[in-house]
Amino acid sequence: MQKADKIYMIGFMGSGKSTAGRKLAQHLNWSFIDLDELIEKKAGMKISEIFSQKGEESFRLSESEALAETGSVSHTVIATGGGAPCFGINMDFMQAHGLTIYLKLSPGKLKERLARSNGRRPLLQGIGNDNLEKYISEKLAEREKWYLSAKLIIDCNKTSFHGLCNMVKKLIV
Ligand code: S3P
Repeated sequence: MQKADKIYMIGFMGSGKSTAGRKLAQHLNWSFIDLDELIEKKAGMKISEIFSQKGEESFRLSESEALAETGSVSHTVIATGGGAPCFGINMDFMQAHGLTIYLKLSPGKLKERLARSNGRRPLLQGIGNDNLEKYISEKLAEREKWYLSAKLIIDCNKTSFHGLCNMVKKLIV
């Protein structure tokens, strides 16, 4: 099998895809793309503005377009938004073009992390802290079938960054 020259980080909001992806890219001496940042750059708008002014459907189209553009890059780690694998052909695209890595965390841990984040995520607007874990559990149940089809599933409670790097290296070098 040909070795992957792209890595796609997938998982729920707040699972640390961008942070781990950026570190992994540095470690491998690869480039890094944050898909949400690419979408914002192309649209000239913040993700929250795309959601509020154009709606989620329009955001999903922009997301798929931006993802398709990553097909032509090489030696790059790409951190995707939490919904990216779950729409259209995005997951098949990522599987065909690179190594997919799911950063798996429990709803309880995700809640802790998301409760601390600054409210920039449009899907979490209006969901109070009391309802957050329930929302996460339900959304994760909807989405996990895509996440679990990743080539590498990392249990973030048990695996250190060092462990992640070792697993990745075995698969790409
Ligand atoms: C989304 C996750 C966000 C961003 C958008 C939608 C989702 O990215 O793409 O707000 O549907 O889960 P993060 O996973 O980086 O928060």
